[in-house]
Amino acid sequence: MEVAVGGRMAASILTLLLLSSWCLMVASGFRQRGIEREEEEEAHGGGRGLRGRFLLARSRTVARTDAGEIRVVSRYRSKSEPCPMHIGFIQMEPNSLVVPQYVDANLVVFVHRGEVKVGWIHEDELVERQLRRGDVSVIPAGSTFYIVNTHSSDRSQIICSIDTTQSMGHSLHQSFFIGGGMNPTSVLAGFDTNTLTAAFNVTAEELERMMQSQRGGAIVYMSGESSERPDLNDNNDDSAWTKQKLVDYLLGKVDKKKAGNGEPVGALHAYNLYDNEPSYRNSFGWTTAIDEDDFSPLRSTGVGVYVVNLTAGSMLAPHMNPMATEYGVVLRGSGTIQVVFPNGSNAMNAEVSEGDVFWVPQYFPFCQIASSGAPMEFFGFTTSSRRNHPQFLIGASSVLRSMRGRELAAAFRISEERLERLVKAQRESVILPIRHHQQPEEDEEEEEVLQLKRGVFA
Ligand SMILES: *[C@@H]1O[C@H](CO)[C@@H](O)[C@H](O)[C@H]1NC(C)=O
Ligand SMILES: *[C@@H]1O[C@H](CO)[C@@H](O)[C@H](O)[C@H]1NC(C)=O
Ligand SMILES: *[C@@H]1O[C@H](CO)[C@@H](O)[C@H](O)[C@H]1NC(C)=O
Repeated sequence: MEVAVGGRMAASILTLLLLSSWCLMVASGFRQRGIEREEEEEAHGGGRGLRGRFLLARSRTVARTDAGEIRVVSRYRSKSEPCPMHIGFIQMEPNSLVVPQYVDANLVVFVHRGEVKVGWIHEDELVERQLRRGDVSVIPAGSTFYIVNTHSSDRSQIICSIDTTQSMGHSLHQSFFIGGGMNPTSVLAGFDTNTLTAAFNVTAEELERMMQSQRGGAIVYMSGESSERPDLNDNNDDSAWTKQKLVDYLLGKVDKKKAGNGEPVGALHAYNLYDNEPSYRNSFGWTTAIDEDDFSPLRSTGVGVYVVNLTAGSMLAPHMNPMATEYGVVLRGSGTIQVVFPNGSNAMNAEVSEGDVFWVPQYFPFCQIASSGAPMEFFGFTTSSRRNHPQFLIGASSVLRSMRGRELAAAFRISEERLERLVKAQRESVILPIRHHQQPEEDEEEEEVLQLKRGVFA
């Protein structure tokens, strides 16, 4: 641990930055909340640039029934350059079902609220997992799956990344319903009746009953009886259970839900973002990032997952991702996101609150700041499943701190001593407090800040 020389210097820089950002925000006056804002922006043609160019305002409702809703948020891209990742929000009423389907995109699923059961086909077997808040699970492209909100009174909400790099050239993912009928239409309906009666070995009447009953849409209520069936595997629970164990065994998977003891969590399990020791924690918050070494199914999706919880008034220090573009969703609280262009001008300084979706291009410097009233929690996906080494620009373990010396001092056109004081003033790393300091030598410090800024912007 190094001894800091003047902790208030960094604080005063931050105060300056913050003050200017608050002023901007007040001046811009966009203070409506979430959905309201979104609809207004859509009404104004795609919603680009109204609140911030890295906020995703284009929201498409893919399915809406009385049992739930699927909404997809996308970045604007031209037709010739489709966006590789969309963020999906699946809201399910108690005791409802997302009709079995497969999609031409990898889904990385995160349970934000409630509990769900996800069933999907893995190596020709049905795998079912009960997922609870914080669980991350992967549904590979082309794998038929369903989702059930097993709870009888609570809604559930799922947030997922929809990675369309493997999709069929459509800008949005395509669902192929297996279950269904009149609505949604099962892909089976596309075959002629003779083919189906022969393939099923049933009469045309029986077939018709099966293919024409469902009219409820992509999300339906489960029928009356309890949805808490212990096992849906065929009708032979024992053999299903044994097969499951066998698959586990063959894949070398020990039955454990947590990583941290060497082995990554395997395809048949979920990884809970809240159950494990955070990747980094200090008094001002914590962050957890998982990659393919923690949760092996991420390898095939090329997606990483992270969650950050900032205490009220703390910031995730200015940083950039050298390996990945980042997508994020504000889960709780509110705050500010600042993104910077390569040429050093501000690209976005936007106030965000629960439900807002943002993205930050690879290499672009950015920071997130929780509002002073409440903690801010955000979660998201990165476009790389490898260990993403975010580079922090400011703070005790930062690029500036590591590089301090004659060269950097010359670059800022200040003395090495001043530089030393400036980069050592912040004792915390990664997640930093924002305190309004009160000291006598305000003038001297402001002078130093001005000098630094002059040096930088000269
Ligand atoms: C079709 O069903 C009939 C009557 O249930 C049965 O006898 C026959 O073996 C089945 N055919 C096939 C190919 O499964
Ligand atoms: C985030 O931090 C706040 C305290 O700052 C805490 O109350 C809250 O439970 C945390 N959220 C999670 C998901 O741990
Ligand atoms: C910096 O780059 C952005 C994006 O390319 C551009 O819009 C902006 O005008 C540039 N600012 C300056 C000062 O060059």
